[in-house]
Amino acid sequence: MEKVIEFIKKKSARVAVIGLGYVGLPLLVELGKVGFEVVGIDIDKKRVDSINRGESYIFDIDSHEFGALVKRGRISATADYRILRGIDVICICVPTSLSKTKDPDISHIIECCQEIVKYLKKGQLILVESTTYPGTTSEIIKPILEQSGMAAGKDFYLAFSPERIDPGNKAYYLTNTPRVVGGLTSNCTEVARKFFEQIIEKVVPVSSTESAEMVKLLENTFRSINIALVNEVAIICNKLKIDVWDVIEAASTKPFGFTPFYPGPGSGGHCIPVDPHYLSWKLKKLNYHARFIELAGEINSNMPSYIVNRLDELLNERGKSINGFFFLILGVAYKRDINDTRKSPAIEIMRILMQKGGRVLYNDPYVLFLKTNSETLKSQALTKGILARADCVIIATDHSVYDYKWIVEHSRLIFDTRNATKGIVSNKIVKL
Ligand SMILES: NC(=O)c1ccc[n+]([C@@H]2O[C@H](COP(=O)([O-])OP(=O)(O)OC[C@H]3O[C@@H](n4cnc5c(N)ncnc54)[C@H](O)[C@@H]3O)[C@@H](O)[C@H]2O)c1
Repeated sequence: MEKVIEFIKKKSARVAVIGLGYVGLPLLVELGKVGFEVVGIDIDKKRVDSINRGESYIFDIDSHEFGALVKRGRISATADYRILRGIDVICICVPTSLSKTKDPDISHIIECCQEIVKYLKKGQLILVESTTYPGTTSEIIKPILEQSGMAAGKDFYLAFSPERIDPGNKAYYLTNTPRVVGGLTSNCTEVARKFFEQIIEKVVPVSSTESAEMVKLLENTFRSINIALVNEVAIICNKLKIDVWDVIEAASTKPFGFTPFYPGPGSGGHCIPVDPHYLSWKLKKLNYHARFIELAGEINSNMPSYIVNRLDELLNERGKSINGFFFLILGVAYKRDINDTRKSPAIEIMRILMQKGGRVLYNDPYVLFLKTNSETLKSQALTKGILARADCVIIATDHSVYDYKWIVEHSRLIFDTRNATKGIVSNKIVKL
């Protein structure tokens, strides 16, 4: 153990990051910045080539800094797993998702471990960062790696450390967000802790890989349920003709026992709509029905339909209908100030409106093209003209670059799903 810790502290440990997306690429960069020589492995050749050209495809990464690290040979990428032969620390950041029946799909983790085992060597540290259900590291990953004939915790170190990165968050990023680690044995935890201490300000060890896996699911289930609660409160307030935004603002003045969450068009991204189902799937196997999780998922995924129903009612009151109406959607990323559209509720709103005969265009300064099932849409220039032509402008994502006062001034009707127009008084605005 001392040998690998020594390598890590001196930054002479050679590190590989497998899966170079929203999680893996920022990690590659931070490791390179502190002095490790780090190689990324990805099955996507285009991504590998882009990295080796010094071009980042992840929004939050400073391209100048990135290019310089590649030029200095600190970071590089390959699609060839044979590079693992000379590696001391391996970080697994491949995607995990859900099947159509909402069962966990950890096939990428399994495929990647089947490659790692071919090159596993004594003293190596394997860190799993992909979100998954409790038990994956000890029940699935460990047996695959032990096919090498080596024992986890004795011959090599194995730990789980959930990635908490929040793309677009300017206050909390990879290095100042505390990092949880849970190893298969206390030695595994210790080696993993030492590794993360090289790039992260605070590392929080937990007692097992299962605890570390569960931490991530608790965090995202907490968010999913609270978002669902506040979405339901928004529906309730609308029925009672109460301004939900007013209520949340006032409730937030309570200095204890209340944490504000805000309603919106649903939950999006790769984590909140997905991760809690990993837990409910695991519980189903133990004959327990995780009701909160299921209910929260149902409420959140129903929000786009709820919003379209509200629009329907709004138009009916004015003797109009969605069919033939021109809607301009502002913001299609799943949240503010990023370009990620995965599971974005804005896209679902667009789909339902189109299905009902609405004419739909969008603007998003961060998403210039948007692939739907049937076509590729292009972000429209945001001009006075298009705002005036739109029968209804829907603020689906509240990017901070938008000038909401100007938008309200030039639009005829606005449906604001995010309270982005807070403080602007106009009878053209309808809020969630
Ligand atoms: N995106 C987030 O904000 C976030 C935050 C915390 C945790 N996570 C979790 O981290 C994991 C990675 O998520 P992401 O958003 O970075 O995914 P991503 O889709 O952005 O990137 C994953 C990368 O892995 C590559 N890949 C797939 N299979 C591979 C294999 N067998 N070998 C090598 N490369 C492979 C893909 O080509 C892709 O480039 C997931 O488990 C996710 O739930 C994501």
